[in-house]
Amino acid sequence: MSHNLNLSRLYQKLHIYTLLKPFIGGFLKLVYVHKFALWIKEYPSKGYSKKFNEGLVLKTRLPLHTYLIESEVKEEAIDYLEFGVASGDTITWWVNHHKNIASAFYGFDVFTGLPEDWHKNRTKGEFDMKGNITHIEDHRCKYIVGLFQDTLNEFLDQTTLKKRLVIHMDADLYSSTIYVLITISKLLKKGDIIIFDEFSCYLHEFKAFLDFTSAFKINYEVIAETNNNAQIAIKIL
Ligand SMILES: C[S@@+](CC[C@H](N)C(=O)[O-])C[C@H]1O[C@@H](n2cnc3c(N)ncnc32)[C@H](O)[C@@H]1O
Repeated sequence: MSHNLNLSRLYQKLHIYTLLKPFIGGFLKLVYVHKFALWIKEYPSKGYSKKFNEGLVLKTRLPLHTYLIESEVKEEAIDYLEFGVASGDTITWWVNHHKNIASAFYGFDVFTGLPEDWHKNRTKGEFDMKGNITHIEDHRCKYIVGLFQDTLNEFLDQTTLKKRLVIHMDADLYSSTIYVLITISKLLKKGDIIIFDEFSCYLHEFKAFLDFTSAFKINYEVIAETNNNAQIAIKIL
């Protein structure tokens, strides 16, 4: 404790923080590249695994979703919650491939794009649908429009979610991902599935997942992985 305090005082007194400022982002990245490698070793997929694909396009992630429907969900009624809908590609795919009429599909998005910068090629406002929101012709599907931080609590107060949950996290950002995971934590039960679409973004979805599972003591196993762990699915134990 006192060692830490001394180090912290020294750090401030000698302005070391100014000296290290240009490098600190790099150190943090390295720490999370390291944590990510350790995590992958500790949690190999128990089910679908196609780690090393060429490229990272929509069609290479769909076999993972197909596996989840064919081997896990099957005909069972589910509540599917997708956080980050944008053009609606993945939620439409789920609606079209899972036919149980008792299932419900909820798509959450502000539809004006990412509320913050994600990384240098994807800045605030990326994925702005400019009012062109894909309408899905299926009475089981509903959109909840707005920032998760403004809509999710009210949605949870008004909605009964008793079926097996399939949660699809595709909001890219650390802040959005951690907010959703913490807010839905009370609902999670054995067998529920959480899919991550950009898991290998180690300072965003991965970090949010790691912080959440360690703080909430969540037990899980990985049931599917693809694209160098860009997309993974975990099952709550
Ligand atoms: C990568 S896109 C989703 C892509 C979609 N799942 C697909 O595969 O077609 C990410 C989306 O997350 C949304 N998003 C991120 N953070 C959000 C937040 N805090 N509240 C609402 N929407 C958010 C953005 O508006 C954006 O449309």
